[in-house]
Amino acid sequence: MVRIGIVGLGNMGRSHSKNIFGGKIPNGKLAAVCDTDPSKLQWLKEIGHEEVKTFTDAEEMFKSGEVDLVIIAVPHYFHPPMVKLALANNLNVISEKPAGVYTKQVREMNEAAEKSDKVFGVMFNQRTNPIYRKVRQMIQDGELGKIKRITWIITNWYRTQVYHDSGAWRSTWEGEGGGLLINQCPHQIDLWQWMFGMPNRIKSFVSFGKYRDIEVEDEVTAYMEYDNGAIGTFISSTTECPGTNRLEVACEMGTLIVENDEITFKRMTVPEPQFNENATLGFQSPDVWECKVPPLLGAENTQHSGIINNVIDAIEKGTPLLAQGTEGINGVKFSNAIHLSAWTDSWVDVDNLDEDLYYNLLQEKIKNSTYVKNLREQVSDTKGTY
Ligand SMILES: NC(=O)c1ccc[n+]([C@@H]2O[C@H](COP(=O)([O-])OP(=O)(O)OC[C@H]3O[C@@H](n4cnc5c(N)ncnc54)[C@H](O)[C@@H]3O)[C@@H](O)[C@H]2O)c1
Repeated sequence: MVRIGIVGLGNMGRSHSKNIFGGKIPNGKLAAVCDTDPSKLQWLKEIGHEEVKTFTDAEEMFKSGEVDLVIIAVPHYFHPPMVKLALANNLNVISEKPAGVYTKQVREMNEAAEKSDKVFGVMFNQRTNPIYRKVRQMIQDGELGKIKRITWIITNWYRTQVYHDSGAWRSTWEGEGGGLLINQCPHQIDLWQWMFGMPNRIKSFVSFGKYRDIEVEDEVTAYMEYDNGAIGTFISSTTECPGTNRLEVACEMGTLIVENDEITFKRMTVPEPQFNENATLGFQSPDVWECKVPPLLGAENTQHSGIINNVIDAIEKGTPLLAQGTEGINGVKFSNAIHLSAWTDSWVDVDNLDEDLYYNLLQEKIKNSTYVKNLREQVSDTKGTY
C-alpha cells in the first residue's frame, strides 16, 4: 500500500480523501493530511477517520516518515515550492492543476524534478476522458489530415459573486495569480496542447472584472497561429449562462466536433486539397459522411482517481504517466501568453515568452491586489472558508 499524504484539506483535498476512503484507490491509503488551518483538520474526526495523522506544517509531514506520495491541493502559487520540498524529501508527488502561476517558478520546479528519481504527476484528470483520448489518437493516426482551424468555446464555467468571495485568495492577483485562465481553464488549455501541440504566437482580448467584482479576468478570447499555418480561437467566460462546451476542428478530412459528450466527425470521402485539385465546378463540394465516433475503446473516465492510480502504478511498476508533472509548464506558458498579450496589447511569441516581463507585470498587479483587504474582512467573518 502506498501511504498518501494530502497538503490542503479544502474542496479538492477533501474530494481526494473521499476517493481514497471510498475504495477508489485500491493500492493507496490516506496516511496523513496537512492544513495550515487547524479547523480544516477537524473534518477527519467528523467523518470517523481519526487514524489519519494530521499536521499544520507541510515540511513536518514530508519529514515524518509517514508518507510515500503527497498530493499538493493548496492555492496555485504554492504548487511549485511544495513540489520541490516534497521531492527534496524523497517523496513522490502529484501537484494539483495548474502547475504554477508563472513559468519562471514552474521551470525551477521542473529542473528540480529532472534531478530527482521520484515520480512527479500533475492532476490533469481530464486526460482520462476517453473522448479526448480518442481525438488525440485520431490526430496521431493522421485520421484528420492537416488541421486548419481549432475553435474551443468553453463558457460553461458559470460562477456567481459568492464563489469569488468564498476564499480570500480567490480571484485576486496576489492570492491566485489570475482568474478564469488559471482556475477554470487549465484543463482545456492542457487538453488543447496535449492534442494539438503549442501554438507559435497568440493575440488575446481579455476582460478583467467585467461582470463580477473581481480584479482578475472573467472573459477571454485568444486567437493563435501555428507554424504550419493552422489557426485557433479559444473563447471562455465564467459569467455566460447557459454556457457552451464545444470543440471544433476544421481539417483536411472534414470537421470534427466534440460537444455534449460526443464526437461527431463530418468526414469527407476525399481530402479537401485533392477534391479541389480535381474540381471542375466553382460551387462543387465533396461528399460528407456524418460519423458518430465512439470514445476510446476500453478506456474508463476515471478522472481524479485515475490519475492517482496511474501515479501509484508508476511508483510500483514503472507504468508511464498519463500526466507527467513537468508537462504542466505548457499550460502555464499558454495562459501566461494570453495574459501578457492582453496586458501589452500585442502579439506574444509563445516559444520565446518573456518570462521576466510576465513576472514583473504580475508583481505590479499584486501591488494593488485586494487579497490582503479580503483577508482582513474574512478574519472578522467567522463563516469565512479560508
Ligand atoms: N483537478 C481539479 O479538478 C481541481 C478542482 C478544484 C480545485 N483544484 C485545485 O486545487 C487547489 C486547491 O483548490 P481548493 O478549491 O481545494 O481550495 P480551498 O481554498 O478550498 O482549499 C485550499 C486549502 O489549502 C490550505 N492551505 C493553504 N496554504 C497552505 C499551506 N501552505 N500548507 C497547508 N495547507 C494550506 C487552506 O487552509 C485550505 O484548506 C487549487 O490549486 C485548484 O486549482 C483542482
